[in-house]
Amino acid sequence: MAAPASWQSIIDALPDPVLALDSELIVVHANQAAHDLFPAMRLGGPVALASRSPELAEALARMVGSGERRTVGLHERFPVVRRLDVALASLAGRLPGEPAVLLVVHDVSERERLAQMRADFIAHASHELRTPLSALRGFIETLQGQARNDEAARERFLGIMAAESQRMTRILDDLLSLSRLEMRAHIAPSGRVDLAETLSAVIEALAPVAEAAGVTVSLARPEQPRFIRGDRDELVQLFSNLVQNAIKYGHRGGRVDVAASEERVAGRDVVRVTVADDGPGIAEVHLPRLTERFYRVDDRSSRAKGGTGLGLAIVKHILNRHGGELRIRSKVGEGSTFTVELPRADGK
Ligand SMILES: Nc1ncnc2c1ncn2[C@@H]1O[C@H](COP(=O)(O)OP(=O)(O)OP(=O)(O)O)[C@@H](O)[C@H]1O
Ligand SMILES: [Mg+2]
Repeated sequence: MAAPASWQSIIDALPDPVLALDSELIVVHANQAAHDLFPAMRLGGPVALASRSPELAEALARMVGSGERRTVGLHERFPVVRRLDVALASLAGRLPGEPAVLLVVHDVSERERLAQMRADFIAHASHELRTPLSALRGFIETLQGQARNDEAARERFLGIMAAESQRMTRILDDLLSLSRLEMRAHIAPSGRVDLAETLSAVIEALAPVAEAAGVTVSLARPEQPRFIRGDRDELVQLFSNLVQNAIKYGHRGGRVDVAASEERVAGRDVVRVTVADDGPGIAEVHLPRLTERFYRVDDRSSRAKGGTGLGLAIVKHILNRHGGELRIRSKVGEGSTFTVELPRADGK
């Protein structure tokens, strides 16, 4: 039979950071996770080396010999900003070297960040829906009131109302797309998609949009079919948004060049697709934020162009699911290039 485990070895076996302090609040034992979390802490040193939080110091001072348990929330700024929940339990130890207080730490930074993101997202989504909704309400009231018998106004308002309600439908469709993608994020796509054919189909479907903007779209694609493991509908959605953005935000009467090529990147075979426009470009400060939900460079002009600001967020989710990557290169006045890399399907 194995010898009974010492209390130190039990602490060592726990996955969460755990510290044991004596009645003088000196660290008498700590597991590896605790050392990783508090690099400045050392055995035999005061607990203040781990955290200088006054709340923790105050709680610890009252803890020794109390027989109590409580949890203290810490907002640490150093070495990184993080939120920790520390569960404290008073133990019997009275002599030096004997544990008198046990600290179990939970890093809740990620949980809090997600909660914040969710709250921001709901605020954003309601705001986006409220804008067309209040326009609709305004026009309905006008049509019920002063414009009741004004035929010309009625025609014009109904046109705007139709556009606003379409906009709401688009926002809701895009939000549903995003949530479906999130639900399937961990299921790798299983189809086999001919990328060159998909690109041709996307460009063909957008021909009327390009024509209306006077934009010429060209495609340089490999002769042979190039297969990737993917979901065709999602890939169509991905490239449609990139090509549509290039047409929408590019130069009126300008050009959009789409090219597909095969590359070997970091030891794996990928297909690289670039969508380049000769439009006004995007200032560098915006580039890292473009794939955030509802992020638009120029709110008014993008909204006027029917944009919901969700397209590139959807692109990013589709790429994550496909093990692909997106790079954006742009300079003000020199157009933008969106580059997508997707892993090739095995065997072809
Ligand atoms: N090729 C481009 N040139 C200049 N700006 C661009 C280009 N592509 C995207 N942007 C900017 O990035 C923003 C986000 O694009 P995204 O596709 O996510 O949303 P959107 O086009 O506004 O809406 P949606 O795609 O849902 O219709 C756009 O509003 C636009 O300001
Ligand atoms: Mg878009």
